[in-house]
Amino acid sequence: MQTGDNGGREQWGSRFGFIMAAAGSAVGLGNIWGFPFQAGSNGGGAFLILYLIFIAVFGLSVVMAEMTMGRMTRLNPAGAFRKLGGGGWPLVGYMGVFTGFVILSFYIVIAGWTIAYMWFMLSGVLATPDAEALTSTFTGLIGSGANPIVLAAIFMTLTAGVVIGGIGRGIERASKVLMPLLFLLLIVMALRAVTLDGAAEGIRFFLVPDWSKVTGATVTAALGQAFFSLSLGMGALITYGSYLNKQVSIPSSAAIVVGLDTSVAVLAGFMVLPAVFAYGLNPGEGPGLSFITLPAVFAEMPAGTLFGFMFFALLFVAALTSAVSLLEVVVTFLVDETKFGRKAATIGASLVCFLLGIPSSLSQGAAAINVFGMSFLDAMVWLSFNLLLPLGGLFTALFVGWKLAQRAVEAAAAEGRTFALGGAWLFVLRFIAPIGIAWVLIKGLGIL
Ligand code: TRP
Repeated sequence: MQTGDNGGREQWGSRFGFIMAAAGSAVGLGNIWGFPFQAGSNGGGAFLILYLIFIAVFGLSVVMAEMTMGRMTRLNPAGAFRKLGGGGWPLVGYMGVFTGFVILSFYIVIAGWTIAYMWFMLSGVLATPDAEALTSTFTGLIGSGANPIVLAAIFMTLTAGVVIGGIGRGIERASKVLMPLLFLLLIVMALRAVTLDGAAEGIRFFLVPDWSKVTGATVTAALGQAFFSLSLGMGALITYGSYLNKQVSIPSSAAIVVGLDTSVAVLAGFMVLPAVFAYGLNPGEGPGLSFITLPAVFAEMPAGTLFGFMFFALLFVAALTSAVSLLEVVVTFLVDETKFGRKAATIGASLVCFLLGIPSSLSQGAAAINVFGMSFLDAMVWLSFNLLLPLGGLFTALFVGWKLAQRAVEAAAAEGRTFALGGAWLFVLRFIAPIGIAWVLIKGLGIL
């Protein structure tokens, strides 16, 4: 354990370890599965540009806001808002912990599918370019009742295993190995995709915006994607920041984490879209793009089994380090605020998430479990993307911008240093981010 002024709380062993863990949280299903299919359905280049703007303007500043709140208080999200703000502010933190349960419950279901797909690649079930066969493999898996639930349980158990290990021995150690591995795999895969015959059309689709395809829904989707991808709006980065020592500069670490997360999404776009075009498939397939369309690509690609297996392994690794951060929010909260120890808190929270994940899994074909006219899983996704995360991000921006203000600027800098762009940061947190997020929130809820 590090010495320092952290009052006995465990700390990240190094700046590199912190950055890898935070990047591990950010880089997940959202980047590798979500981003390419969203870009594919929302006009390619136009979606990419909107996403990049949102990341640069709102994303970076709210990432810094969360990390700073965590380090200032060394507490979980609810404790952090209570200590710094009092009044009704802790509710924002409680909402974050609740959001952790909601997201993790569907996250483990989708991550569970990646386990099946690693096996499917090796066993040869996917070795066909026939769309109908691939569709029925996918719907067969996700609608089969018990199997996907068992896979979600396995994934939840692996996640809990890392979290029980704690910050340094569990999360940091796993992230320092898994994240570089993930980058390596991704670069190999993207190089393979862009050098396929006929890849150029896909590259053009991804980079050259077609503004005629952009609607209000595209803009909302791009902001929701930016938030989810950066793990913003529910206190995950408050939690990770609470284990950070005072010698590390938050602005530069945040910039690196945001840069890594964005590069992975863009690389994932270069991995998926050129391949989809090279084989004449439809980029607007939606959530099935990774599970139905890509296997068709792998089936025709030289050494496709190897690349296909690598792809699903990549998705699995990315999902694991993200799920760890979601669970850690709940566990840090329970350890700080109740008498539970880390192990009991982890096991209890994992069990609740798993139980909440069961209706999500069953709603994919085994049983008609609908809420608000959507499948239970879609409803959980909708609730977190369109309501909980934007609300959390909005309140965090307002809180740090107005209530903490100059105190936050000082706290974000490394000890004994200053943060030169602090004024610009506060301006974004006070005005730009709240107005932008509120607009998207209202649109996303269909109020206007
Ligand atoms: N960012 C992760 C992804 O892209 C998911 C995630 C992990 C997340 N922790 C989070 C999303 C906290 C929102 C809030 O898949």
